[in-house]
Amino acid sequence: MGLLEVKDVKKTYGKRKAVDGLSFSVQEGEVYGLLGPNGAGKSTMLAMICGLLKMDQGSICIGGVNISKRPQEAKRKLGVVPQEPALYPTLSAEENLRFWGTMNGISPGDILPAVKKALQVVGLEERARGRVDQFSGGMKRRLNIAAGLIHNPEVLVMDEPTVGIDPQSRKHILETVKMLKRQGMTIIYTSHYVEEIEYLCDRVGIMDSGKMILEGTIAELLSNGSEYQQLRIILDRMPKEIPQAVESIPGVERAFSQEKTLNIVTLNAERILPSAFEAIVGLGVSVSEIKITKPSLESLFLEETGKALRDN
Ligand SMILES: Nc1ncnc2c1ncn2[C@@H]1O[C@H](COP(=O)(O)OP(=O)(O)O)[C@@H](O)[C@H]1O
Ligand SMILES: [Mg+2]
Repeated sequence: MGLLEVKDVKKTYGKRKAVDGLSFSVQEGEVYGLLGPNGAGKSTMLAMICGLLKMDQGSICIGGVNISKRPQEAKRKLGVVPQEPALYPTLSAEENLRFWGTMNGISPGDILPAVKKALQVVGLEERARGRVDQFSGGMKRRLNIAAGLIHNPEVLVMDEPTVGIDPQSRKHILETVKMLKRQGMTIIYTSHYVEEIEYLCDRVGIMDSGKMILEGTIAELLSNGSEYQQLRIILDRMPKEIPQAVESIPGVERAFSQEKTLNIVTLNAERILPSAFEAIVGLGVSVSEIKITKPSLESLFLEETGKALRDN
């Protein structure tokens, strides 16, 4: 059994199914990525894991403890790094951590070493006395991580920890996650940045509209159909018939469009290229660029949903 077990969880807001029957498990010591575009339901799922939001249906167990039945015990096992930093701006970094540490049950005798260690993990020892309202966005994010870690939880839950921060802080956060992983921490990491998920995670659940659309180890997902190649052909326009016309070419596994880009999944890009060209030109469309790539989580997502993961 996994350290975290999520079974058939549902949450609706009015008529909107924010989380629509999600199941997954996270093993001890694993970094599990929840990848999905904005609005996929990642934060809603995490809020239910953290006991901040009641699910409509399903069950969540952390270390064998059902969060609906024994919420306090389950919550103690978790460290939470919410999407919006939960910090007191007029207090110093150290004071914020003392507060969160105490809230999380650390005794007065243990609080100072715990604060020091948490600051060290996120590289803010030298700013311990600095007021949070004078911190950059990236520093606040790092302090937020320290607050989630301070009571040495069994599972750390991180919700899009790198959105909207400077590249240096981003790098620091990614390296912090790597280090925590090396130390054996179990982490759930949500993001809509595919490269972060590919870099950090052992396994990934790819979600869209509240549902899990693909799940597996990164290696499994990317090697699914191991020898596949992806051809990206940028056209001057994209008539509706193109994907279908190209998909009917022998040797083409799948063809799907995204705006003016035609994506073709095939075992032999060079072999199908002339026929693809013929089909495209035959429909009166010109080609402006061709690229042959390996499939990525991005292209898998696109293939499943016809949508891009990124904003805009
Ligand atoms: N408090 C809320 N009330 C109504 N709808 C909500 C609320 N929170 C989230 N939603 C909706 O639920 C869906 C999932 O949102 P969210 O979990 O925040 O997605 P993500 O974190 O993947 O961007 C979205 O359509 C969002 O608009
Ligand atoms: Mg979110």
